[in-house]
Amino acid sequence: MHAARESLPAASGAESPINLDLHRTKDGMKTVDPIQVYGCVGAFSRYIPARKSALKRTVCTPQIKDGTMVVQTGRHFLQIPGPSNVPDRVLRAMDMPTIDHRGPEFAEMAFDIMDGCKRIFGTKNPVLIYPSSGTGAWEAAIVNTLSPGDKVLMAETGQFSVLWRQLAARFQIEVETISGDWRRGAKAVDIEARLAADKGHAIKAVMIVHNETSTGVTSRIDEVRKAMDRARHPALLFVDTVSSIGSIDYQHDAWGVDVTVGGSQKGLMMPPGLSFNAVSNKAIEASKNNTMPRSYWDWNEAINANKSGSWPYTPATNLLFALKEAIAMLEEEGLENVFARHERHAAAARAAVRAWGLETVCVDAGEYSPVTTAVMVPESHDADYFRKLTLENFNMSLGTGLGKLKGRAFRIGHLGYFNDLMLMGTLSGVEMGLDLAGIPHKVGGVLAAMDVLKGKDVMKLAVA
Ligand SMILES: Cc1ncc(COP(=O)(O)O)c(C=O)c1O
Repeated sequence: MHAARESLPAASGAESPINLDLHRTKDGMKTVDPIQVYGCVGAFSRYIPARKSALKRTVCTPQIKDGTMVVQTGRHFLQIPGPSNVPDRVLRAMDMPTIDHRGPEFAEMAFDIMDGCKRIFGTKNPVLIYPSSGTGAWEAAIVNTLSPGDKVLMAETGQFSVLWRQLAARFQIEVETISGDWRRGAKAVDIEARLAADKGHAIKAVMIVHNETSTGVTSRIDEVRKAMDRARHPALLFVDTVSSIGSIDYQHDAWGVDVTVGGSQKGLMMPPGLSFNAVSNKAIEASKNNTMPRSYWDWNEAINANKSGSWPYTPATNLLFALKEAIAMLEEEGLENVFARHERHAAAARAAVRAWGLETVCVDAGEYSPVTTAVMVPESHDADYFRKLTLENFNMSLGTGLGKLKGRAFRIGHLGYFNDLMLMGTLSGVEMGLDLAGIPHKVGGVLAAMDVLKGKDVMKLAVA
């Protein structure tokens, strides 16, 4: 128990604090032990014109030392590309007593949720819901349809395609990779060529990440499907929508996808903890003949249990409460409006990046991600140093560069429960962070983004 005394750095930029003598308790209880609190509120604006170099060293950087506590006020800006911000409505929905998962009330809710998932994934077929992160649903797709020694074709678009490939390899799946530079999506023409060359139909599945969260590139799944059809190849099509479902248009049935993998913590505006497999009839057929051992992930047991509104094991009841609410919120807004909102925010974020004179990782305008904008930092600058300063000074988390983009890029997540002013706060934090980190850039990114948001003709606004 400590009394807190809020202190700001002195005008000289030295470490001696201006003591504001705001005596208050850290935990709401009376105490006699003094503690100093360094905060950055208000200090930044006073220092920036004259003392940039001192500012980098001392001002605004929260300090954690013996007897010193950092106070962050307001909401943390969680601008990583997922987990995304969970709306209060969804949090409140979870904050309920857990109910009997074999009782009638639960079954009624389960049917509602399963129907809702079908609408979100764009399918009339079952959508399996697992109490796991997205990685579990990756595994479920493989163990339910493939057999050890099978071959698959994977388009390497970024870190998540690499991780999925590694997971498949652990199940003795041979992965033929179409390598890429991580700045473009899956190329339908390459997929078509590989499948056309596979006369003996050794390739059992094509695996694509719809929205590569590590690069901010969205692949065109409908084009991949058409390429597979042109090659007249019977391979299954697996698509990872962990960071696209609920925020980017997606049509499991219409695009002829066989297994769609999803996750709860991004476009679905939920905490991490649920994952999904939407499955085609062809995938279900494959699951009846494949020889890969599995138990927990088995589709057929779950599909049977789902028919009576239950699961073969204890489901994540309170996360299902959250899912029900999240689906209601998406449908109240209207999926079309949700997708348009994401497109519009992404366009504004890219306008900012352009005005800063920086480059997005994605180089194909037809593949820009509506949910995440990954930004390259100039050679010899460290994107993680910039992220660290942005977190320390502005209480905002940005996505780190993953895999080979580590240190070379940062990612701005603009997905899920998000609005114009949250985007403007985010971009302001980025612009100030670039300045603090000494990353060469032009001013005016925030203004450029505002222009996009004000231009109502750029994207239709959601109809209330
Ligand atoms: C596109 C994509 N696929 C798969 C995953 C893995 O999901 P999880 O971390 O929930 O296991 C992620 C996580 O960020 C992702 O973005």
